[in-house]
Amino acid sequence: MKDLLTIHDLTTEEVEDILSLSAELKEKQKNRQMDCPLIGKTLGMFFEKPSTRTRVSFEVGIYQLGGQAIVLPVSDLQIGRGETIADTARVLSRYIDAIVIRTFEHKIAEEWAEHASIPIINGLTDMHHPCQALADIFTIKEKKGRLKGLKLVYIGDGNNVAHSLIEICAKTGIDISLACPKGYEPDKKIVKSAIEDAKKHGSRIEILSNLQKAAKDADVLYTDVWASMGQEKEHKKRLKIFKDYQLNKKLLKIASPDALVMHCLPAHRGEEITGEAMEGPNSVVFDQAENRLHTQKAVMLRLMAAL
Ligand code: CP
Ligand code: NVA
Repeated sequence: MKDLLTIHDLTTEEVEDILSLSAELKEKQKNRQMDCPLIGKTLGMFFEKPSTRTRVSFEVGIYQLGGQAIVLPVSDLQIGRGETIADTARVLSRYIDAIVIRTFEHKIAEEWAEHASIPIINGLTDMHHPCQALADIFTIKEKKGRLKGLKLVYIGDGNNVAHSLIEICAKTGIDISLACPKGYEPDKKIVKSAIEDAKKHGSRIEILSNLQKAAKDADVLYTDVWASMGQEKEHKKRLKIFKDYQLNKKLLKIASPDALVMHCLPAHRGEEITGEAMEGPNSVVFDQAENRLHTQKAVMLRLMAAL
């Protein structure tokens, strides 16, 4: 694997390898066992959308592995004045060892990957958020001790986070039920190819509009914002459309009593999730956020160590 653009590009074995390496790295970090496998390596960070978790966890992660990060603000690069991605990617490949990209259209990340000779890591596009899904599944495994046979219920918008979750559930044998308002279901092509993967691993993907039906016996309840970055103008309209798709106490009663409450964050309390669900005993949202650090360190090691 040269890049990490989507979960679909990974094999199940690669996902499992990242999960076990993440556990090892987390343990080492807890015991303050510092080795520096990425000494002398530089991670570039090209972000066209805001970020708290992705940006900080990658930056801290590369430092902990002995390397360094360099933030590449669009406004400071010649790309802001029209230099092409193809040229920029080739030039930066001569200085830097990997780049995390957060951008809008997924094909922009693909264009970087096509022209760069170094790994390109997708730190979120409009269609995918693979680093998030790896941390999510790692968190579920940590809390539940297994993945196969669990039921994850995703509530709300069929967006980038939902797409990567569908793909990772299909690869790891988790059943996923999505409850989305009509017209806001996940991308058909992504679902179709995930169904093929799911068949191989004995899991199911279902897309419903009835939230209560979807949430029955859930082992994990997962939600994300109703309006993603870039959809700010639709926020008001979406408030109405999504109003019944909330992760709250009522929904927790339908799920398994020990269901995990998950959210990729940032959260909008009172919209897709209640404050009560976020802060309640089932919530693992801050462990989930922490695990971004450990799983991304594993991703960097696998992509950058051999360079
Ligand atoms: N979950 C996530 O990717 O958060 P940030 O937007 O803060 O990076
Ligand atoms: N779906 C959200 C995720 C943020 C981490 C967005 O794209 O804004």
